Amino acid sequence: MNATSYTAVIVAAGRGERAGGGEPKQFRPIAGRPMLAWSVQTFADDPACAEIIVAVAPGGAMQAAGRLGALASRCRFVDGGETRTGSVRNAVSVAGQPCVLVHDAARPLVTAAIITDCLAALETAPAAAPAMPVADALARDGAEGLEAIDRTGLYRIQTPQAFHTGALLSAFAAHPGDFPDEVSLARAAGLDVALVPGDEANFKVTWPEDFERAELVLKTSKPLSLTVTGMGYDVHRLVPGDGVHLCGVFIPCDLHLVGHSDADAGLHAITDALLGAASLGDIGEHFPPSDDRWKGADSVQFLEHAVRIAAEAGARPVHCDVTLICERPKIGPHKAAMKQRVAGILGIAETRVNIKATTTEKLGFTGRGEGLAAEAVVTCQVQGAT
Ligand code: CTP
Ligand code: MG
Repeated sequence: MNATSYTAVIVAAGRGERAGGGEPKQFRPIAGRPMLAWSVQTFADDPACAEIIVAVAPGGAMQAAGRLGALASRCRFVDGGETRTGSVRNAVSVAGQPCVLVHDAARPLVTAAIITDCLAALETAPAAAPAMPVADALARDGAEGLEAIDRTGLYRIQTPQAFHTGALLSAFAAHPGDFPDEVSLARAAGLDVALVPGDEANFKVTWPEDFERAELVLKTSKPLSLTVTGMGYDVHRLVPGDGVHLCGVFIPCDLHLVGHSDADAGLHAITDALLGAASLGDIGEHFPPSDDRWKGADSVQFLEHAVRIAAEAGARPVHCDVTLICERPKIGPHKAAMKQRVAGILGIAETRVNIKATTTEKLGFTGRGEGLAAEAVVTCQVQGAT
């Protein structure tokens, strides 16, 4: 049996009732992308994986494809069943490869090593699954009180659960009922199941608190996979006054920048650049000038908000370059303070912020001192980008 070419079946048709949170857990974001996308990505990255079949709630293919973005092109969607067994049965029935690996969408932390071990085990067994020996003491709380249970030889079985496709189809045909997983079905059908080492990290996201744990592991273990940039540009009118806000620093002088907020063109350009990098629109969409809440507002809060929503979208700023274009005020003496301020808001080192200033040789509106312009480029790392 050639075990190197396989169909990945990812079951994602559950309701996620124990996890709560409104929408089914497999679509909720973890570390910047829907939970389902993490395991789809791991299988998509495996050269031995010839096809990925995702079982979704009936009628939910469009929603799932939308959540997966570009990864959806690697997947075939089938209707799941009322139970997990039903979902697996539907998906396996259209599998086109000699081996099939059935995986829970609720285990976003599956590793390439587990997949390889399962496949290797299929060279000599019709079925294989990752397993973890039980380490804690076990007890059953029954009518007679607590009954200690010997944990010797007990395992926690994870997914992916791997099979020769023909053997799994025969098991389904012979046993029409529901099973907690395919290992139980395989055993009912008398198939030998080889156990390979599981991974503590490959746990099943089940309860609300599991999201935080999965997020922590994914943020630290998965490499940042994409660098993106965004640009921003802003202009405000200059009039006589007693000082201007630029890049979060107040510069006392005989000028004033006119705007609905504090008119800090520097921070506005950076905010737009960050929103651009994270593909989140522009500052006007998030803080409409028509909204009285932003009258005279400190623009620091705009950038702080952008940092927050960019992080939710998985984008983390790593560098920022700003050009302030004006004849006056003189920017040079304030560059160090601006760098410090911007770095603080973006949560990056001061060495990753650059502030430049230029005049326009007395040409144009900036040259005539009618207005001040700012340009910014922000670079972000996107975690788990598709
Ligand atoms: N699953 C499925 N079809 C079902 C039920 C479950 O495809 N009818 C999938 C889930 O989407 C999940 C995996 O089986 O990826 C493991 O199931 P579980 O953790 O129990 O998920 P849910 O059934 O969604 O959660 P709950 O039991 O808390 O409602
Ligand atoms: Mg369930």
